[in-house]
Amino acid sequence: MMTSAEIRKQFLDFFASKKHQIVPSAPIVVKNDPTLLFTNAGMNQFKDYFLGNRKPEFTRIADTQKCLRVSGKHNDLEEVGVDTYHHTMFEMLGNWSFGDYFKKEAIAWSWELLTEVYKLDKDRLYITVFAGDEKEGIPRDEEAAGEWAKLMPEDRILPFGKKDNFWEMGDTGPCGPCTEIHVDCRTEEERKQVDGKTLVNQDHPQVIEIWNNVFIQFNRLKDGTLEQLPAKHVDTGMGFERLVRVLQQKQSNYDTDVFSGTIAAIEKISGRQYPQNDSREAVAFRVLSDHIRAIAFTIADGQLPANNGAGYVIRRILRRAVRYYYTYLNYKQPLLYQLIPVLAAQFGHVFPELGQQQDFVTRVVKEEEDAFLKTLDKGLKRIDDIIGASGNQIGGKAAFELFDTFGFPIDLTRLIASERNLTVDEAGFDAEMQQQKNRSRAAGTVDTEDWVVLTDSGFSEFIGYDSAEAKSRVVKYRKVKAKGKEAYQLVLEATPFYAESGGQAGDTGTLDFGGEIIPVIDTKKENNLTIHFTEQLPTGINTGVIARIDTAKRQSTAIHHTATHLLHAALRKVLGTHVAQKGSLVNDGQLRFDFSHFAKLSAEDIRSVETMVNEKIRENIPVFIREMNKDEAVAMGAMALFGEKYGDTVRVVIIDPGYSIELCGGTHVGATGELGAFRIRHESAVAAGVRRIEAVSGGAAEALFNEQAEQLGAIRELLKAPKELVKAVENLVSEQADLKKRIESLEAKQLNIIRNELIGKTESVHGASFLGAIVDIGSADALKKLCFELKNELTNYFVVLAANIEGKAQVAILIDETLSNSKNLEAPKLIREHVAGLIKGGGGGQKTLATAGGQDAGNLPQVIEKLRSLL
Ligand code: ALA
Repeated sequence: MMTSAEIRKQFLDFFASKKHQIVPSAPIVVKNDPTLLFTNAGMNQFKDYFLGNRKPEFTRIADTQKCLRVSGKHNDLEEVGVDTYHHTMFEMLGNWSFGDYFKKEAIAWSWELLTEVYKLDKDRLYITVFAGDEKEGIPRDEEAAGEWAKLMPEDRILPFGKKDNFWEMGDTGPCGPCTEIHVDCRTEEERKQVDGKTLVNQDHPQVIEIWNNVFIQFNRLKDGTLEQLPAKHVDTGMGFERLVRVLQQKQSNYDTDVFSGTIAAIEKISGRQYPQNDSREAVAFRVLSDHIRAIAFTIADGQLPANNGAGYVIRRILRRAVRYYYTYLNYKQPLLYQLIPVLAAQFGHVFPELGQQQDFVTRVVKEEEDAFLKTLDKGLKRIDDIIGASGNQIGGKAAFELFDTFGFPIDLTRLIASERNLTVDEAGFDAEMQQQKNRSRAAGTVDTEDWVVLTDSGFSEFIGYDSAEAKSRVVKYRKVKAKGKEAYQLVLEATPFYAESGGQAGDTGTLDFGGEIIPVIDTKKENNLTIHFTEQLPTGINTGVIARIDTAKRQSTAIHHTATHLLHAALRKVLGTHVAQKGSLVNDGQLRFDFSHFAKLSAEDIRSVETMVNEKIRENIPVFIREMNKDEAVAMGAMALFGEKYGDTVRVVIIDPGYSIELCGGTHVGATGELGAFRIRHESAVAAGVRRIEAVSGGAAEALFNEQAEQLGAIRELLKAPKELVKAVENLVSEQADLKKRIESLEAKQLNIIRNELIGKTESVHGASFLGAIVDIGSADALKKLCFELKNELTNYFVVLAANIEGKAQVAILIDETLSNSKNLEAPKLIREHVAGLIKGGGGGQKTLATAGGQDAGNLPQVIEKLRSLL
């Protein structure tokens, strides 16, 4: 039997023999594409090639791609574990042609690979082809059907409509008709009873699709129409785990060697056996062995669990898994993190990033599990109560409470509900969620229109490493609406504007259309397009434009970027080589650097790092930037980032080859001396195992020094202590503590005196002891304290104390409990109805003691009179 590793290798070798370049998987987390959070297909990383935004380095490529289908257009989450062939994370084997070969070759090669290399039984294969769609105006795919007919009997070539045989990346983007290969894995006997072709596309667990060949010819636009692409492409995807299952002749993906190691580890940890059936316990085994892959590989690619965006998707998957082992394996401690070594070893040769960060990923996962286990039990009890009280639906408010208080993602609540044949009021949940969002900030939805293309000549080329200015043209533009405001996004033929990436902020500057100056307020990337953000369009957009960046701002940004490299290297030298970049933000005002490290940095560490960076600045080391082959760079010891996509040719920033070599696309200074100085402002924790340093360099460092010096100067002047400043502040602090003690003791004495005087002033009103007085006292707190003291001295009392504290009114009402009950007098109510108005303020408290504060201290006698008359 072939191992999964051999099967993967045969795929890649086969396409290498057909002149395909084999490339590494792109990271599973997508950056720079607003339509996607995660890679959901092998073709994502090539989107720009299809759209014609960028020229491919190779016209034939093949790879295995880490994919995640848990959000957006392609979402399989609810099937995972319940069946045996859907996954959250899976590997997609793919081959591509970018304007090179088309249907004939793609079809012939997929047949050759499946039947001659993998030696699948031809009899068990079925093909689907696109049946055409009138509405879209696309005819039936005769060409694909014709190619297949050369290879197999026509009655096994089945037409299907748009739902099955027209593949789209998302709501917008590259798409086209496809042809799929399905395998019938049933027993001979079953096959005799029911014809396999009647089971294709019927969700039969043994008659499954393994390979999709898409013929990309269109771009789906925002308005739903299709636009013909400049060239025709092939995009294929084969589910690796399914292929392995077919070749290893298993009934379930989980019985293959892709999952068996993880399942065995779960058996060992939980002390239970994986039951090969559809029980909830079996589902739990499958869910855990599936979900941990998605969790581990995504974190290894740099995405930490979080409360929003891609990070929240990971948190949701993790919590779903925790609930499965907690409830169905009766395992009450963190489990998932224990599986990471198994995965790291298994995938070491194909996705080494997990093994390289095993400690880090393990800590992050364990911490997440610990945190959720703290509220899970209470949440599960609460859901029992809710279900007991609610009949057959969990209401929106309840679902929101589970989310907000117990950390139950909505899909977990839905899952638990469905296990008990209940539904969840998801619209109600969304409404609650929206309300919370509205409370925290006005929701800003961005509405983006389709591009208006002015010229399709050329691509947007970044020339800003060398120039601050460029003569250019607008290639295309579009209108966006955000927070009710209209704005524009422009793509230029050549641009000096650096688009935000690698943590470095985008450039700002101006576009000069023959004298009409349009400010560029930001620059961002979308896939590989540089997008200039403006608030208006010029009157003559078809004329040429001179694009100019704000050079002072760019220089300050470059200073912080170079400083970040110096910092990164210093951290690795001072703390150790486990330090890896986990996030970075560089702009003209500061830098922020997140990195893996497990403890707070000591003051000494911080000082050593700072000193090392400042030494490197004074050495005035030239910054060399070279383009070179990636392997060459790595051999030189260049630091690459996890979760970053690199091509074959990389840009390398070298600041003394013995000190710092990093792969980086950012802009830098010419020599480190330009930085002037470097100062760490702050060190903190951002997540389990991730620390953050905020620092400044260049003019921003000087500004910080000036600010600190000014503060010191001002303090010195106030203290009139020109030399021994620290000593003077120490004296001040200890003197203040003495004074505080003395004041407290005096206040206590004063209260005693006032209390004794007050006791003498009580009068009998309708059998109660009424005490109403304006007292001379320093704080609202003291007034309250006085009430407590009087309580012990009086019986059947009704006390109203008022004070004028620095021009403001303070009132306290204290009522004996029995009196309050018998006369129906409630202190907060009295405040609301009779006091608040008179003092122009308000307050509240308990039935027997309430206080109020107000702007107007002139009516305090009336307050007392009013309450006396009420009694
Ligand atoms: N992009 C195609 C798919 O994901 C191959 O199915």
